[in-house]
Amino acid sequence: MAELLDRLTQDHRHLVRVLDLLDDLLDRFHAGDEPDYELMCEMLEYIESYADQVHHPNEEDIFDRLRAHTDERYPVLDRLTDQHLQLTRINKQFRQSLEGIVHEEVLRRDQVEVQGRELVEALREHLDLEEREAFPLARERLSAGDWERLLATTSSHEDPLFGPAGRRRFHTLCQYLTERDRL
Ligand SMILES: [Fe+2]
Ligand SMILES: [Fe+2]
Repeated sequence: MAELLDRLTQDHRHLVRVLDLLDDLLDRFHAGDEPDYELMCEMLEYIESYADQVHHPNEEDIFDRLRAHTDERYPVLDRLTDQHLQLTRINKQFRQSLEGIVHEEVLRRDQVEVQGRELVEALREHLDLEEREAFPLARERLSAGDWERLLATTSSHEDPLFGPAGRRRFHTLCQYLTERDRL
């Protein structure tokens, strides 16, 4: 029934793998290493092109259906909607800073690290809140008909990293993820 929720939960597992890798890179950055900025930019491009443009909008469709379902207010949904906007902003800002470094603009390393940590922390907290509160609420309140309508209307873009085409577009990131799994 809630096939869409299963897909979104699977997306979360994938995003956590990307965040774990980003955490490793930020640790190395903190220790003074020069990380692979282009790899980091690829990660942010993935988050932007899939999480921000496909995954979160799919969730917004579910939240809207929940809101339309009843007169009851769900403050957690409003909080998550705000977080969707904030996450897009944090991601863009961090990506611009990284691209600045790649193009040899002078940026303070500690500020770049703070931005990266902010993104990782905000996204982890967000995924957790959805799984703890919003997804169970949707499972409980939405009917089979709701899920059918949602499946018919939500965009089902393929995941550009973990889907079959991912190896082409995010080649470097894909390699790093595979190597990390071997450790
Ligand atoms: Fe979300
Ligand atoms: Fe999510």
